[in-house]
Amino acid sequence: MLTNSLGLAQGLMPLTARVLPAALNSWCSQWVRWHGDHGHGHHHQHHRTKEFKDALQEAPEKFQGEARKRLRDFAKLPWEVAMTPEQAAKVLGTFLGIPNLEANTVLALTVDQMHAILEATTDKGDKQLEKALFSYADGITTKFFGDEVYYRGIVEYSNVCQNDCGYCGIRKHMHDVRRYTIPIPEVVEVAQWAFNNKLGNLMLQGGELRTPQRNQYIEDMVRAVREATVRMDMERRGLDPAGPLPAKDEEMGLCVSLSAGELPKEVYQRWYNAGARRYLLRIESSNPDLYAMLHPSAMSWQHRVDCLKALKEVGYMIGTGIMVGLPGQTLRDLAGDIMFFRTIGANMIGMGPYITEAGTPVADMWDKLYGKVDKKEHMKRMFDLTTRMNSLARITLGNANISATTALQAIDPMGREIALRRGSNVLMPILTPTKYREHYQLYEGKPCITDTADECRKCLNARITMIGKKVKDSVWGDPPNFRNPAISVAVSGAAAGPQVSARTIATSTATTPGTGTRTYSTAAAAPKAPTPAGAAKGSDVPRINIGVFGCMNAGKR
Ligand code: 5AD
Repeated sequence: MLTNSLGLAQGLMPLTARVLPAALNSWCSQWVRWHGDHGHGHHHQHHRTKEFKDALQEAPEKFQGEARKRLRDFAKLPWEVAMTPEQAAKVLGTFLGIPNLEANTVLALTVDQMHAILEATTDKGDKQLEKALFSYADGITTKFFGDEVYYRGIVEYSNVCQNDCGYCGIRKHMHDVRRYTIPIPEVVEVAQWAFNNKLGNLMLQGGELRTPQRNQYIEDMVRAVREATVRMDMERRGLDPAGPLPAKDEEMGLCVSLSAGELPKEVYQRWYNAGARRYLLRIESSNPDLYAMLHPSAMSWQHRVDCLKALKEVGYMIGTGIMVGLPGQTLRDLAGDIMFFRTIGANMIGMGPYITEAGTPVADMWDKLYGKVDKKEHMKRMFDLTTRMNSLARITLGNANISATTALQAIDPMGREIALRRGSNVLMPILTPTKYREHYQLYEGKPCITDTADECRKCLNARITMIGKKVKDSVWGDPPNFRNPAISVAVSGAAAGPQVSARTIATSTATTPGTGTRTYSTAAAAPKAPTPAGAAKGSDVPRINIGVFGCMNAGKR
């Protein structure tokens, strides 16, 4: 229920329409629609929004600052951080058996511990622990990134794909998808727009096509984007664009990231040489058995892992990620996913809820398993679970870049903003030219399909202001853990038990290459929640618990 929000009647008026772009108005209505739908005082809210909009009409510029502040109040609800880092540490520490856990400590949690946290918050509906999880993660995010959010503009350069991933809306066998590949000059135009709009980064994502022509196209595209934007940067810095690059040129022009699938190391190397520095390749699930269920037999989990390793060897910052809520996936799989991120040394993480796409085999599987559940309710649960995963990733990885993914917004119009308060620090505005967007529908309800890049950018800016954060303009925003992995603390011990008296920190083996892991030297560090009897480690998790997230079948949490 929105209570202390706008205070319009008490003379907030007027706000300025100029600070608050049109996108904001549409945000307001979306917000109302969403919360109205969910019974959070629709009428009251609607009334507020009308006042709000009226106020926006006639606001002089001098009220800008006030407008922003009020806007933050207005928007407080869905992403309110419930606890201070200290309070959160107390609750989480108690759960893990370390009552003296210090706030903002990065924790090298085990699969068992992460599983226990997911289970308590998902199946058992432990709201207090969930709040602590979100708040603790937000504390760590703030510790490493302050209130800054990084942007990565994304261009979906082609939907031509030779893979047949069972969940994907642009898989090879979707015959009625109109296939496109954006000509390089158009991509360069977007890159120039991105540079002028202080985006700092460009992620080039496309379907997977292992042909010499496609490899060449990508190489040329990377080079063209780099050249064009480095030249713009030289000009902006008052240097001769045709002259030599400054000695320290790492952050000239746009940072180019790629997401183009599984290719030989030589090809990765060529693209690196052309100027790409980051690469995203989601593992989709760290469980090879589940992976095998979702992909045609021609695709191999091990090969995907090998590609991630090859990318790392070439020198890329690597990103990976998974989908949450895949049919057959268990909470233990999800705990294993986060362990996978740590073991592979991921610099960037992207996790989104799995969303059914009609006409795909995994959507059929999903229907068979969950056909009877209220889909909307289910998706809301998967949304929450995804944000818990973001929080767990933040808590265990510390200073990796974690993205608030677009798929979250397909479920909740405020999805990405909420995620930015639950461990994420990266947003990816879609910059794909509008005419192509409808053909890059990976799943149903993908948002922003009809927007322009400018609208997306403005809309997201407004949204970020609302959650009390700000965009870090014109930086590459490398994942800090690429050069300086966070020191994490392992919580070890066998059983819940005595209070921990002294917390000596002993250096132990690093989980991630180059990651210092220290240990809470305590006998009392096991999770309060029991580990499932006979639970298997890692990939040999039995694939029986199909009802998985108990909440799917149970009624209310
Ligand atoms: N629901 C959610 N995410 C999906 N992706 C593909 N299909 C779906 C879907 N149906 C994600 C995959 C892929 C990324 C580009 O999009 O994780 O790696």
